[in-house]
Amino acid sequence: MRRIVIAGNWKMNNNLEESQNLISKLVEGLSKDKMNCEVIICPPYTSLSLSANLIKGSMVKLGAQNMYFEESGAFTGEISASMLKGTGCEYVILGHSERRSIFGEKDELINKKIKKALSSDLKPIFCVGETLAERESGVTNEIIKGQVHEGLNGLSENDLGKIIIAYEPVWAIGTGKTATPNQAQEVHEFIRKLISDKFSFAAADRIVIQYGGSVKPDNAKELLSQKDIDGALVGGACLKAESFLGIINAA
Ligand code: PGA
Repeated sequence: MRRIVIAGNWKMNNNLEESQNLISKLVEGLSKDKMNCEVIICPPYTSLSLSANLIKGSMVKLGAQNMYFEESGAFTGEISASMLKGTGCEYVILGHSERRSIFGEKDELINKKIKKALSSDLKPIFCVGETLAERESGVTNEIIKGQVHEGLNGLSENDLGKIIIAYEPVWAIGTGKTATPNQAQEVHEFIRKLISDKFSFAAADRIVIQYGGSVKPDNAKELLSQKDIDGALVGGACLKAESFLGIINAA
C-alpha cells in the first residue's frame, strides 16, 4: 500500500498575517481528525520560517515552491536548497508548469534542481503535465515521457525513493476543468510504467504519484480512489482551510 500525500501549493499568495490565519485553522482542523494521509503545505518563501514554527507539533510538513541548483553566490533573487532545509522544509516543488511556462524552465534545469534537492536532503515534488494543445494533438504520452525521462535523468533507484511525482495537466490548473478520473488514471498508469521501465517494478510500485489540477473537496474522493492516484497537489483549494481540510478528509 502506497501512502497518500496531499500537498497545498499556495503559489504567490498570503502575507504573514494571512499565513498565520490559514495555518492556525488548518492545524486546528486536523487535530480533530485521525489522519491517514501525509499533509504538506508549500507557502511562499517569505512565510516559510513562520510556517515552520506554526506547524511544530502537528502532522503538517513543510515544502517550498521552487529553489535554485547552485549552493550559494551571485544569483540575485534565488534561494538555495540548504536555505530551505535550514528553514525547516522537507519538500520542494520542482518543475511546476508555471515555472516552465512563465519562467522558461526547461527539463535540463529541472533535472539539476532535482539532483541538488536530493543531495541536500530535500524531497522533490516533481511536476509534469501536457498543455491543452498537446493533449488535443494526441501527444500527451510523448510529452510526459520526455519530461519524466529528462527530469529524472541520472538518478538512482535510491534517489527515486525520495521523489514524489505530480501529474498536472496544464489545462486543468486553475481553470476549474479537472481531468476525469479516467483521464488522470490513464496518465498515472503510464507514468508508473515509465518508472518501471527506467528503474524497476519495485520502484514504480513504491513511488507516490499525485494528481493536480482543480482538485476540490467534491472531486477529490473519486480522483483519489483511482488505482494509480496516490494524492493531490492542490492550488486554489488549499488557500481556504475548509476546502483543504475537505480534500484531506476525502483522502
Ligand atoms: P489548482 O492548481 O488546484 O488551482 O488547479 C494546482 C497546481 O498548480 O498545483
